[in-house]
Amino acid sequence: MKIVQMSDIHVGSGLFRLDLLSAAIEETNSLEPDLVAVVGDLTMEGYRWEFEEAKGYLDHIDCEHVVYAMGNHDARSVGYRHFEELFGMRERAFVVPFAGGEAKVVTLDSTKPDLDEGEVGREHYAWLDSEFRGWDRGPKILMIHHHILAVPGTGRDVNILSDAGDVMAILREVGVDLVLSGHRHVPYVWSISGVRIVHSGTASSMRVRGTMPPSYNVIEIDPTQVQITLREPGKGEGEPLASFSRSAVTTSKFYPDFSRFVKYDRLR
Ligand SMILES: [Fe+2]
Ligand SMILES: [Fe+2]
Repeated sequence: MKIVQMSDIHVGSGLFRLDLLSAAIEETNSLEPDLVAVVGDLTMEGYRWEFEEAKGYLDHIDCEHVVYAMGNHDARSVGYRHFEELFGMRERAFVVPFAGGEAKVVTLDSTKPDLDEGEVGREHYAWLDSEFRGWDRGPKILMIHHHILAVPGTGRDVNILSDAGDVMAILREVGVDLVLSGHRHVPYVWSISGVRIVHSGTASSMRVRGTMPPSYNVIEIDPTQVQITLREPGKGEGEPLASFSRSAVTTSKFYPDFSRFVKYDRLR
């Protein structure tokens, strides 16, 4: 299975670069991925014109499964209404077929209107669990804009999911393989408790940090290995970002029971 992961497009920013986005889209199309995961911050202020302009560009992605997640910038100015109208529901589950299986892909909206901070929220836990638990036809992939773990090279850490501990425990409990995130504008991969958390940088803006250029990720999953390549738009093949075995080696046990930590709220 081949995935292109990009995020932090930031149409509307003075630092947005159409040449980078066009190159990233052209390269994505030549890669012929099974899934293109666009993990939030399509816009700068959540304005209608920014979403429309972003859609005008992103509609050139030639892939049957292009999935979008909300970013905190998209939740400004009541932008979630435009997001839903132009890019689909903010929280959905998809089955993405590929040669050799089917992946379950879930998008979560970790944003709150007009806040930069992220939170999943207890009321979403039961749904998240039900989508992933028992899935055995291929990879389990979560798309969420905010970071669950701090990303190095980003300066002072802010906006981490306020319920990161609960969310991480759920992901381990239900055996999520890959988490695709953005937000920090620095590409990085954590592998922890069998969950691989993959951050993409900003694909098409100069809102960069430190030495990391604008970039996106190419993720190749085969039956035994996962390879992640960091690509700079318009600069060729890229460089390795991470590689790991398809199935995480877990020899550790943790007690007590999951349910003593995380409570699933239910609406009655
Ligand atoms: Fe961003
Ligand atoms: Fe963000």
